[in-house]
Amino acid sequence: MKDRIVLAYSGGLDTSVAIGWIADATGAEVIAVAVDVGQGGESLETVRQRALGCGAVEAYVADARDEFANEYCVPTLKANGLYQGHYPLVSAISRPVIVKHLVKAAREFGATTVAHGCTGKGNDQVRFEVGIQTLGPDLKCIAPVRDLALTRDKAIAYAEEKQLPIVTTKKNPYSIDQNVWGRAVETGYLEDIWNAPTKDIYDYTASPEFPPAPDEVTITFVHGVPTALDGVALSPLQVIQELNRRAGAQGVGRIDVVEDRLVGIKSREIYEAPGAMALITAHKHLEDVTIEREHARFKATVGQRWSELVYDGQWFSPLKRALDGFIEDSQQYVSGDIRMTLHGGQAIVNGRRSDTSLYDFSLATYDTGDTFDQSSAKGFIDIWGMASKVASGRDQRVAGE
Ligand code: ARG
Repeated sequence: MKDRIVLAYSGGLDTSVAIGWIADATGAEVIAVAVDVGQGGESLETVRQRALGCGAVEAYVADARDEFANEYCVPTLKANGLYQGHYPLVSAISRPVIVKHLVKAAREFGATTVAHGCTGKGNDQVRFEVGIQTLGPDLKCIAPVRDLALTRDKAIAYAEEKQLPIVTTKKNPYSIDQNVWGRAVETGYLEDIWNAPTKDIYDYTASPEFPPAPDEVTITFVHGVPTALDGVALSPLQVIQELNRRAGAQGVGRIDVVEDRLVGIKSREIYEAPGAMALITAHKHLEDVTIEREHARFKATVGQRWSELVYDGQWFSPLKRALDGFIEDSQQYVSGDIRMTLHGGQAIVNGRRSDTSLYDFSLATYDTGDTFDQSSAKGFIDIWGMASKVASGRDQRVAGE
């Protein structure tokens, strides 16, 4: 029997050509695997037919949208996951769910090897291969673009020569990756980091400069999971989709950053994540009223470390799993409603209510009904400042010697 290779297939030019390219280079049979993580565009059936038309012996397609929303986007929301404080990990969290399906397909079709279309310069090759090594340690990995010299020009020539059922129009100047959590755009004109992004780059968001009338939305959370919008119960996937539409219309969630890749390169990326950014903002504000101060401070550092691990391809690592345990526990009381106004590129919280709130009106108020004993403050401050006061006395003594 021939060797079998499963290929992470997007339906685009590069991975369509990769089917025949891998078969020619290795003599193996190729099984195309397409995973729907809410990237939109063509139907899975169209993608499946194209894979078969390009020479795949089998095509495995999976609608993983709910799985992605529940098991990848929701944990990112609970962590308030923002790499370097900006990037909501759009591509980073989609790789592990694709890996799960690649390994599943490899088992189903008896493949020995997994292939992906990444280059040798990015983070995604690391995420795919580290994930595959972890879930399927016996599987080998190949990357035709990186390992089998499949360049863009060769891909176009190959597709034309073999008359593959795919359009080989001039190269789109940008490299784009998208799913329901957001969209990432890089390369081309954006590689000059002084160049401002042009209008044509955006797809999930309208320009915030001329927004429609403000849109007020109430988001309900139960244990950190978004469960309803404006009182209407929805699944996490539906909440994200709906907020992509509403926050996107207001230009919320446009991000322009230079970030640190795992491979040591600084790179410029434009992101659009209207739903994700609105949700993270709302979730953080609900945590502000429901999580105790020290717990919240520590959780912020856990969330930052979690984001670095996920960015760096460590989704399936023991440390990431241990931090998941901490984050999950922290969400016990993160239930309630957040009201926010979406307008002109901003998502601004203006109301919060929770049955598990720690906000105590009688402690906070400056009006009658105050139960806070102000006379205790003086002694507290004396002791709180003691260590610095003693050190400062020493500093002055030494300086005077
Ligand atoms: N820089 C981001 C990351 O490493 C996004 C990469 C996605 N790819 C793209 N072609 N824009 O997670």
